Amino acid sequence: MAQINLPKRLSAISQLVEKGSLVADIGTDHALLPISLVESGICERVIASDIAIGPLQSASKNISAHDLGGKIATVLSDGLENVTEFEPQNIIIAGMGGETIRDILAASAYPKASNALLILQPMTHSELLRRFLIESGYSILSETVVREQHRFYVIITARFLNEQKHYFKNDSAVFELGGITSETNECGGEYLLWQKGVFEKNLTQIEKSAPSDDKNRLLEYFSALIRETERRMTQNT
Ligand SMILES: C[S@@+](CC[C@H](N)C(=O)[O-])C[C@H]1O[C@@H](n2cnc3c(N)ncnc32)[C@H](O)[C@@H]1O
Repeated sequence: MAQINLPKRLSAISQLVEKGSLVADIGTDHALLPISLVESGICERVIASDIAIGPLQSASKNISAHDLGGKIATVLSDGLENVTEFEPQNIIIAGMGGETIRDILAASAYPKASNALLILQPMTHSELLRRFLIESGYSILSETVVREQHRFYVIITARFLNEQKHYFKNDSAVFELGGITSETNECGGEYLLWQKGVFEKNLTQIEKSAPSDDKNRLLEYFSALIRETERRMTQNT
């Protein structure tokens, strides 16, 4: 079977893995990432886990087709529940909503106790995930933006360190935008432009809405986000 050629999003995630580390891919589904990590020589062994039997069966089928059964263990697990006994050094949680990723991390003591590198790719609500990480004492180490077809994907790396230390210096709108600037890898600028459009749409809807206690607060919130996004489009902080 030919080596797996990862789509751009998964390829960007694989490039963040620490070479030689034991990786757990939580919510692996097809197991494309674990297969590629082993085939490319980045990892010797990978744990491919999923909460559901169907995806895990599809993972096992792909792993067998690539003859990697001895190097990739499949584990049925809700989040990190049955995975921590393997003591992974890198934990990937990708392709799920930010709330689900947050809940998986919050449910286990392992990510903090182990200081494992977390490689997180939320499909939605990255702001909830950043809020959780920052308020729980994790350091956000990097953010990458990838564009695949018409969609942007944000990939966040984080780790629980003795002292909390984020890679970004400016913490305005940090839950919503993290440290993403126009200089963030290949398409930070395009991402900010898209994100500004989303904030503007929200603002227009709020402007049209009936008066309420929250209306002025939300108008100010989205106006401030738009100003901060515009500022980041021209300044690299
Ligand atoms: C859309 S797929 C993403 C697959 C792959 N990680 C990727 O990024 O392409 C989401 C997978 O996460 C699994 N999942 C959802 N909640 C989970 C949880 N709490 N623990 C483990 N897996 C979970 C689902 O069963 C599904 O297979």
